[in-house]
Amino acid sequence: MEILRTIEELRAWRRLHWSDTIGFVPTMGFLHEGHLTLMRKASELSDHVVVSVYVNPTQFGPNEDLDSYPRDMEGDIAKCESVGVSAIFLPSNAMMYGDDFATTVEVDGGMGDNLCGASREGHFNGVTLIVSKLFNLVQPDVAVFGQKDYQQLAIIRRMVKELNFPIDVVGVPTVRERDGLAKSSRNRYLEGEHRTNATVLYRALKASNEAWAAGERDAGALLGVAQGVLDSVDGIAVDYLSLVDPEKLNLLEGTVEEARGCVMALAVHVGKARLIDNMRLDGPLPELSV
Ligand code: PAJ
Repeated sequence: MEILRTIEELRAWRRLHWSDTIGFVPTMGFLHEGHLTLMRKASELSDHVVVSVYVNPTQFGPNEDLDSYPRDMEGDIAKCESVGVSAIFLPSNAMMYGDDFATTVEVDGGMGDNLCGASREGHFNGVTLIVSKLFNLVQPDVAVFGQKDYQQLAIIRRMVKELNFPIDVVGVPTVRERDGLAKSSRNRYLEGEHRTNATVLYRALKASNEAWAAGERDAGALLGVAQGVLDSVDGIAVDYLSLVDPEKLNLLEGTVEEARGCVMALAVHVGKARLIDNMRLDGPLPELSV
C-alpha cells in the first residue's frame, strides 16, 4: 500500500494508474468496520481503492469536537492494508486550505437546512467543499459512502449530478453492533450506562419500521412511535427526530405516499456523544450480526 502525504505524490500515483478504475473512500479516520465495509465494496467495483484520512476543519462548528476528534494514524494504516487498499492519502490542513482560502461549494435548495443541517450550521458546505477537492485530486470512477450519514450521501449525490463529476456514487447500508447501535468513531465517547442508552436510536427506528410494516402510514403516528421509545430513556437529549422523503429530504407530514418512500432520521445526545442514525421505514429491518 502506498502512503501518499502530498498532493504531488497523489497526482504522481494517479498518473501511474491512469488506465485503471479507481474506487475512492473518503474518511476522517479512526477507522472501524463501517469504513472497512465501504473499502471492500469499493474494491469489488474497481481495480484500485484509494482511501483518504483527513479530519476536515471546515465541516466542524466552533463548539464541536474538531480538536478532540479521535485519531489513530498507525491503526488506520494497518486497517487499510488489511483490506487491500492500494493507496492512502493523508493530507495536511496547510495543503488542503492554506492561508486565504476563499472558495465555497454549496448544495442549496433546502437539502442542508433540516436534520443535521439545522443544528450544524455550515457543516454540509464543509463536506461538499472537501469532497469536491478530494474528487478532483483522486479522480475516482466510483466513490463509496455510508447510508449512516444519509443527508451527507443525498447531498453528495446531488452535487455530483449537478456539477457533472464523472463519478458513480455508491451508498452502503449502515454497519451496526449486535444490539443495533450504528458503528461510529464517536462511539468511543460512550461509557457505561451511556453505551446502553445509545441503543435507543436503533430501537426507536425499529419500532417505527414495524409500525410501517403493520400498515401505519400517518407521519405523525410513525414519529409518535419513535418518540415513545425515546421518552422511555432518561438522560438523553433529542436534537431532532424527522421523517423525510428519500431524495430531496423534504419533511413529510400527513399520509406518507408508499411510492415515494420515507426515511426516519434522528440525532440524540447521549453522554458526551451526539449520535445520528436513520432507516428507510418502507424497507426491511437490517440484519444484525450474531
Ligand atoms: P467519516 O465520519 O469518517 O465517515 C466516512 C464514511 O464512512 C462516510 O461515508 C460514512 O457514512 C461512512 N460510515 C461511517 N460509519 C458507518 C457505518 N456504521 N456503516 C457504514 N458506513 C459508515 O463522513 C465523513 O467521515 C466525512 O464527512 C467525509 C465524507 C470524509 C468528508 O470529510
